[in-house]
Amino acid sequence: MTVEKKGKLILAYSGGLDTSVAIPWLKDQGYDVIALTMHVGQQSDEMDEIREKAIKAGAVKAYVVDLREAFVDTFVWPALKSNAVYQGVYPLNSALSRPMIAQALIWCAEKEGAVAVAHGCTGKGQDQVRIEVCCNALNPDIEVLAPVRDWQFTREEEMDYAEAHNISVPTTRQNPYSIDDNLWGRSIECGVLEDPWNKPPKGAYALTVDPKDAPDEEVTIEITFEAGIPVAINGKKMDSLELIEFMNKAAGQAGVGRIDMVEDRLVGFKSREVYECPAAVALIEAHRKLETITLSKDVLKTKKELEVRFAEMAYEGYWFSPLMEATQAFMDATQKSVNGTVRMILYKGNATVNGMKSDTSVYSKELATYSAGDIFDQAAAVGFIKIWGMPIKTWRQVHKDKNVNPIEKLIIAKGEGAL
Ligand code: ARG
Repeated sequence: MTVEKKGKLILAYSGGLDTSVAIPWLKDQGYDVIALTMHVGQQSDEMDEIREKAIKAGAVKAYVVDLREAFVDTFVWPALKSNAVYQGVYPLNSALSRPMIAQALIWCAEKEGAVAVAHGCTGKGQDQVRIEVCCNALNPDIEVLAPVRDWQFTREEEMDYAEAHNISVPTTRQNPYSIDDNLWGRSIECGVLEDPWNKPPKGAYALTVDPKDAPDEEVTIEITFEAGIPVAINGKKMDSLELIEFMNKAAGQAGVGRIDMVEDRLVGFKSREVYECPAAVALIEAHRKLETITLSKDVLKTKKELEVRFAEMAYEGYWFSPLMEATQAFMDATQKSVNGTVRMILYKGNATVNGMKSDTSVYSKELATYSAGDIFDQAAAVGFIKIWGMPIKTWRQVHKDKNVNPIEKLIIAKGEGAL
């Protein structure tokens, strides 16, 4: 049977079974498949073999690109500036990589003159939503395919198809979880974790030790920030990748960064998710604390609201939206003064800040002190209190009945003997 030739297609290729099977499957649909593998700091060390594997599976060409630096500069640092955590806890490690994958797919498609791109996400997750919404935003003329969503293979059928197409199937027992990892953290889902009563087994973790097995000595590190971005550890300048790797190790060894949550998915259901994000958890805490001395009260308050929006947009695939662009501009404007050094203690699962200093600090010891050197004008407090309390005083004058106080209530109920 001859199939109609459809043109070139760029496939986001991880080297795993699903995307390997996708190569011959897409070929059968009439596409010339070009594999694009993106290195974002995942644990897999087979980046070199991946190219070969793609060609062996039938790709006409295979790119392997190291996007780690771009990932940090364009996605991770803006997230850190925004203290971005979805539903208050998830640092968005997986979510942040999706707009970049979309960007790389579209870039490659335009360069190659491809008619379509494809990814290996299933139809149940939100990674499909993020990648497709982002691809469509960047170039609506390029079709986005999701073979794993479309082919409706059972696991066995997929294995048979792989064998028939000379694709090696994993001989070891399948990993009991669905894992996605990069520099900013590792996501672990499925298997026994699907029951929220089940404790995550030891084997689910790879970057962190169990806090109870962490060393008995606390580790002290000093993190220096410039314009909201960490640039040095213990006084030593480090580039972004080095710094994140250092933090992943130091915090991971201290058992910092484990997250176990039930998360509200964009696709309508709740899902039990386990993450380990040692660097992200420690750096966000350090950054958040530094902001308390370098930002004004009103900026902190408004920023907090926008941080929630930022996290939601990153989670929901709205990276390339106008609101995201405006939100990032706001964040950048606030970060100019976020400079200084934070002293952090890593100890048995906790990352705590116990000291901060900054040349752009607006903390004033002369105003705060209760000791000698106080410059706070205490006499001015009298007039301030009068005006500050005036609206409540005025209201209470009219609504006197609201004035029943707890002591009065007690006496009414129990008599004077209650006193
Ligand atoms: N629930 C997370 C998110 O939606 C993690 C997704 C991880 N993907 C995976 N294939 N395990 O951002």
